[in-house]
Amino acid sequence: MRSRIYIVMTIIAILAIMLALILLKKDKLTSLEQRFDPLTQSYAFTIPNLQRLAQANALKAFECQTCHKEIYDEWQASTHASALQDIQFQAELAKPDSPKWLCLNCHIPVQNQRESIVTHIKNENVLEPVAEVNPEFDPQFQQEGVSCAACHVRRDEITGESYVIGALGTSSAPHPVKTDKTFLRQTCLRCHDPQGEGITKNLLCWFESVDELAEGRKDLQERTGRTSDCVDCHMPIKRRRLTITYPDLPTRDSHMHHWVGGGVPKSFAGYDSLIQRGFESGLETKVYLAQNIVANVDFEVRVELTNARSGHYLPTGDPERFLLVWARLYDGTGHVLQEEKYHIGQEWLWNPARKVGDNRLKQGETREWNVKLNSPADLTGLQLSVSVLHVRLKSENARYMMKTKGINENYLPNGQELVANAIAHYPFASYVFHEEIHLENGMKRVFGNKELIQLSKQEQGKKLEERGY
Ligand code: HEC
Ligand code: HEC
Ligand code: HEC
Ligand code: HEC
Ligand code: HEC
Repeated sequence: MRSRIYIVMTIIAILAIMLALILLKKDKLTSLEQRFDPLTQSYAFTIPNLQRLAQANALKAFECQTCHKEIYDEWQASTHASALQDIQFQAELAKPDSPKWLCLNCHIPVQNQRESIVTHIKNENVLEPVAEVNPEFDPQFQQEGVSCAACHVRRDEITGESYVIGALGTSSAPHPVKTDKTFLRQTCLRCHDPQGEGITKNLLCWFESVDELAEGRKDLQERTGRTSDCVDCHMPIKRRRLTITYPDLPTRDSHMHHWVGGGVPKSFAGYDSLIQRGFESGLETKVYLAQNIVANVDFEVRVELTNARSGHYLPTGDPERFLLVWARLYDGTGHVLQEEKYHIGQEWLWNPARKVGDNRLKQGETREWNVKLNSPADLTGLQLSVSVLHVRLKSENARYMMKTKGINENYLPNGQELVANAIAHYPFASYVFHEEIHLENGMKRVFGNKELIQLSKQEQGKKLEERGY
């Protein structure tokens, strides 16, 4: 009897050891440095915990604000400031197959913004991170997204103290400053230029703005007489004082911290400051009617679309973005007789993510879209409208997104409601061009920026099936 128990116990012990060995073998740990190149894949690493700045006692953006108020106000209205609270971001983050820690590395990149710090991954799988609790976690700092510190503050490796990276070489700052203009101007690449192979089956946020820019540089120089980087266009220069608290300091060539992109803000309130923040569409659009309109005779409309102002492709960045060119023919009662659409963007298939099409406009490129419309028997009140919308999120994807459960409300307070009711809170698209032509008399009206913004605001709350994109 007893020997039987021994045998059973021995067998159990052997099995347990084997299981442990299998588990141990399975959990192969790889350090981040082994897996990613810190130089070209810096997005895989967080910016080490930072201390408050000596003398100025600041680290968080609202602490910089006490002196750099103007720059702070610009930053605060930018998408960088709300990179964590973005409704779509939070919905995607809640998906079980998103490598959350990697997503957060670009959207809240400083360690103090993180409850825990990933040091290793298991089994070469970015969905199995191994993390340590971060004793210096600061929940208030977490809410700041791509904060001032993400670009400007680093830790001195020897003293452990924080310093500000600047470009002017001022000696008037109360806080430590190191001058490194090149670093600052290349800091965009950390997040806007992920390098290496796609690291998960479905990692969104794989951009090529930098390659697109390099490709267009020669052409850009011919057209504008200068080469350019991201900062030249996205942070234009303004002469001003850098602080309100030191009125004796001279005005300087300062950089606007707006980073306006394609003109789709993160909230409907964001439309009110869009023009003031310097938004100008990268696109130039011209509409031509090929002939006079005659009843019952088809006619052609030519739309010329030029990427006139953006340094990269149009649109750039998120692969989901596209331009919708939309011609609509209305009868005298405002009823749509015919509509035609043309998409400019990338086409992807998912699982695994792969690009299967790309007809975006290169720098300076002009594309013609010719569309044939059927002229009705009655021309009374006949009207044509041609619109271009910059679409960030199409209804099909929004429908799916709005069903997402498990939103982390520490990241986005009231997040579950905001996601479920995204049509009311989150602009999906903006009008960047709209022209109306009365075909009876040829009278045309091209909408200005203010009217375009009015049109865009009217999308708020619209049902998905009524949106047309
Ligand atoms: C107590 C006031 C104060 C606070 C707080 C403060 N700064 Fe400054 N900062 C200054 C002054 C003064 C200058 C020098 C301005 C000048 O020379 O025109 C300066 C200069 C700078 C410069 C330019 C340095 C250069 O040489 O290019 C940067 C960048 C900067 N601060 C970033 C920050 C950031 C980021 C924070 C918050 C983490 C911050 N500052 C907090 C007062 C402050
Ligand atoms: C720490 C990561 C990070 C760095 C560094 C960074 N960005 Fe961004 N940037 C983001 C994220 C994340 C977003 C999108 C936020 C969102 O849509 O919620 C963004 C958005 C943008 C946009 C689009 C704004 C819009 O309205 O659509 C522009 C333009 C931009 N960044 C330019 C820059 C430039 C120029 C630099 C360098 C000076 C830079 N970024 C540095 C992460 C970064
Ligand atoms: C996405 C990166 C990024 C963020 C976030 C950012 N800055 Fe800057 N900042 C820059 C760059 C790039 C420059 C200009 C470098 C140059 O001179 O070419 C700059 C310049 C400055 C300067 C020097 C004067 C000037 O305007 O050129 C100050 C001061 C400054 N930033 C303060 C701040 C403060 C305060 C915040 C937060 C409220 C902040 N920055 C957020 C990238 C950033
Ligand atoms: C020659 C000027 C120019 C340069 C250089 C430039 N951009 Fe842009 N960028 C623009 C314009 C204009 C837009 C708005 C395009 C539009 O109408 O959709 C834009 C839009 C964007 C957007 C928003 C995408 C969208 O669809 O809303 C991002 C992100 C962006 N740029 C990043 C960058 C980065 C990163 C660099 C540097 C590698 C850079 N840009 C260089 C002019 C420029
Ligand atoms: C390499 C840095 C990086 C990583 C990693 C990253 N993002 Fe982003 N994300 C960005 C930048 C930069 C933008 C702004 C580009 C733009 O506006 O087109 C952005 C914008 C977004 C947006 C807004 C898109 C829009 O059209 O306005 C969403 C949603 C998003 N990211 C989700 C995610 C998710 C989910 C993950 C993880 C699976 C992730 N991101 C990982 C850098 C990153």
